[in-house]
Amino acid sequence: MTDKELIEAAKEASSQSYSPYSKFKVGAALLCDDGELFTGCNVENASYSATCCAERTALFSAVAAGKRSFKKIAVAGSSDGAFAIITQPCGVCLQALSEFCSGEFEVLLTDKSGIRKMKLSDFLPYPFSKTSMN
Ligand code: THU
Repeated sequence: MTDKELIEAAKEASSQSYSPYSKFKVGAALLCDDGELFTGCNVENASYSATCCAERTALFSAVAAGKRSFKKIAVAGSSDGAFAIITQPCGVCLQALSEFCSGEFEVLLTDKSGIRKMKLSDFLPYPFSKTSMN
């Protein structure tokens, strides 16, 4: 699967977003090491704090299906369907991803000029991990 296809899958996933409060639709597409793809969207809640971001929806679906190794994730967010501005993963999602992914894990973002390729460590250089609990 190409990076462009992964971004398209994230945009497509955003169409399922449940976001009556922010009206900001986010989609994520997570490519597993074995080539399988899991997508997710943000699912908001009247309490606000119970909201789940698209990235964690995709990650937890994949983990629930038995996946543990991941290649890359694409994220796309928009309130008007234009995907003009980059949507970067929030701190909670970065921490959740860091449970399964190394700093080299690719994070693909998109804006009106195309695809921006980052890695997990660009956003979260010092994740809290099991080695932090020695
Ligand atoms: N959101 C995501 O789903 N992923 C991100 O990367 C950033 C934020 C969602 C959470 C909430 O439903 C809405 O976007 C506004 O914060």
